[in-house]
Amino acid sequence: MTTGPAGGRGLRHVYSGKVRELYQASDGTLLLVATDRISAFDYVLQTPIPDKGKILTRLSAWWFDQLADIVPSHLVDAPIPAEFADRAMACRWLSMVPVECVARGYLTGTGLADYHRDGGVAGVELPVGLGDGSRLPEPIFDPDTKAAAGQHDENLTRADLVALVGADTAAELERITLAVYRRGADVAAKRGIIVADTKIELGFDDAGVLRLADEVLTPDSSRFWPAESWQPGRAQLSFDKQYVRDWLTSPASGWNRGSGEPPPPLPASVVDQTRQTYIAAFERITGLRWG
Ligand SMILES: Nc1ncnc2c1ncn2[C@@H]1O[C@H](COP(=O)(O)OP(=O)(O)OP(=O)(O)O)[C@@H](O)[C@H]1O
Ligand SMILES: [Mg+2]
Repeated sequence: MTTGPAGGRGLRHVYSGKVRELYQASDGTLLLVATDRISAFDYVLQTPIPDKGKILTRLSAWWFDQLADIVPSHLVDAPIPAEFADRAMACRWLSMVPVECVARGYLTGTGLADYHRDGGVAGVELPVGLGDGSRLPEPIFDPDTKAAAGQHDENLTRADLVALVGADTAAELERITLAVYRRGADVAAKRGIIVADTKIELGFDDAGVLRLADEVLTPDSSRFWPAESWQPGRAQLSFDKQYVRDWLTSPASGWNRGSGEPPPPLPASVVDQTRQTYIAAFERITGLRWG
């Protein structure tokens, strides 16, 4: 454990994630601070996206409220130090369930790869003939391990999940994940956005209650597609970091993903376009104005 820049003011720095910094306040509260860092292909990029941390924090707070009847969140009512204004949440420390709880409503990304290989996703058999962007007959719970830093998350079978967390918790994770996905998809649909998939993290509080942690239904944790241009059978337009992934893998970046070299810095135009995309996601989903 190290003492961060805020250490002199009763905050102890305890952990750096890819995007967030965790501090413990003197009253024991967790301060979850979202930076402007962006990750892609398991790398933290060297170029920040201005305001990204504030956008994710505000959007998550909005969703925690929308989801409160489904699952309680980790938020507590405590003051946020001025230096982290608008980019921090005061939270309970939870005992985190070491699982990335993914729900898929549409087929793309690793879900699509699993379908091509196995004819199904997470043990659920699917009809033949689905393509990139196809809507699934029912949303599917598709948990991954939460890998240690530098490692890739890996698919968990149902048996793996039960072995890891027990049958009761496994059933709760599935129930909550699918309920959060369905609520998120319903709310976003009213604004013309498809939630293709989303990832949540849950943890137990001191009373043994499962709470929603981290962030929820943000462009970092979800795929958001504009409904008006959705067309299965091809890659979709999106309100998330797909733009950054596409640039990194285009000839313009000069980067070879297989080289083992870290990605190059992002040009100003890509930074600005990505920032606008995150703002568009926030504004469309919440109906609020950014800034
Ligand atoms: N209420 C909470 N109590 C304890 N830990 C939490 C809570 N909310 C979030 N976390 C943890 O804080 C970290 C947030 O950091 P961040 O989102 O940057 O991480 P990440 O990139 O998703 O993953 P990693 O932690 O592997 O780097 C995650 O490890 C998450 O599990
Ligand atoms: Mg995270």
